[in-house]
Amino acid sequence: MATTYRICVIPGDGIGQEVTPQAVRVLEAAARRHGFRLDLRTEPWGSAYYAEHGRMMPEDGHRTVAAADATLFGAVGSPEVPDTVSAWGLILTIRQKLDLYVNLRPIRSYPGLGPRPADAPPVELVIVRENTEGEYVGLGGRLFAGTERETASHTSVFTRAGIDRIVDYAFRSVLAGGLLTSVTKSNALPHTMGLWDDVAAEVAGRHPDVRWERMHVDAVAYQLVRAPERFDVLVASNLFGDILSDLGAGLQGSLGLAASGNLNPDTHVGIFEPIHGSAPDIAFRGIANPLGAINSAALLLDFVGEAAAGEQVRSAVADTLAAGAATADLGGRCTTAEMGEQVVRRVSGGAP
Ligand code: NAI
Ligand code: MG
Repeated sequence: MATTYRICVIPGDGIGQEVTPQAVRVLEAAARRHGFRLDLRTEPWGSAYYAEHGRMMPEDGHRTVAAADATLFGAVGSPEVPDTVSAWGLILTIRQKLDLYVNLRPIRSYPGLGPRPADAPPVELVIVRENTEGEYVGLGGRLFAGTERETASHTSVFTRAGIDRIVDYAFRSVLAGGLLTSVTKSNALPHTMGLWDDVAAEVAGRHPDVRWERMHVDAVAYQLVRAPERFDVLVASNLFGDILSDLGAGLQGSLGLAASGNLNPDTHVGIFEPIHGSAPDIAFRGIANPLGAINSAALLLDFVGEAAAGEQVRSAVADTLAAGAATADLGGRCTTAEMGEQVVRRVSGGAP
């Protein structure tokens, strides 16, 4: 009996509705090729659902996500719904309720795309961002608004347990011979980042076979531009990881290519999504780049245990780009569906 994976699909808003179906086609092609089955359930959550029901998703929506083997998400955001409502009503709430503490951002370069010269060494790195605490816990406030004494404070919260689990995950994801870089700024932020450094050193003691280093975030930013090929896995706090992963996406050449995962490796719940938003400026014209969504589907395949299929999807994406296929964001004329079709053909083993 072939294994069946239950996949929850949430296309969401704008180009999420265009790119997600292409990622689903690629998943179906991978399933045929690699001999597994998919039980796909598509949820209509998002801004249209909000217009009808007054909420972005059902109250127990996170349970639907938790019950699936993995979830594929598009994007949310619509000119008709405030961003705080659309984001907090759906993806941010799910991340929080399901304690999806790992934010995974793989960065890989494609020859001839992005700011690097075509003969520069290839980039293949993963940024592991802490996704539940640190600088983004929302603790703080404003006092004396509008007066000369106006005062603002914003407090970061770092816990030993929170640092330990994210750094440990990062160590476990380093491939043989690879390097782990722990990103902090403990010279200027000695309390929080000092705790991070201490815990990272303890975790490193549990992984004696993995080479690792500590580096300050400003130096990492510089090196990501100058010599990104020197990195394999980087682990960083919520804020630092957020910024560095967008820098990494810039190295790839388009926001439309970059993939991400939000996961809890302990409960084995994961949501995979392109890093871009709903792009209302180009939505429903059939020109959005689906490769970020397709690369997210590849991460989903790794997560459910179909790593060979995931790798094949990534190769199919690289081959499609190498053959010159490109959507408008990459300077080409392919439609969203044509781009998806090219990847599907390669995953299915057909002629390129
Ligand atoms: P965005 O990522 O939607 O778009 C930024 C720019 O990149 C736009 O010019 C867009 O056309 C282009 N772009 C993005 N993805 C593309 C693709 N796949 N192919 C071709 N071009 C692409 O970010 P923006 O404009 O700041 O936000 C739009 C909406 O999306 C807002 O409502 C925002 O809140 C939401 N958003 C949602 C996210 C999520 O669901 N995880 C993440 C980021 C933004
Ligand atoms: Mg960001």
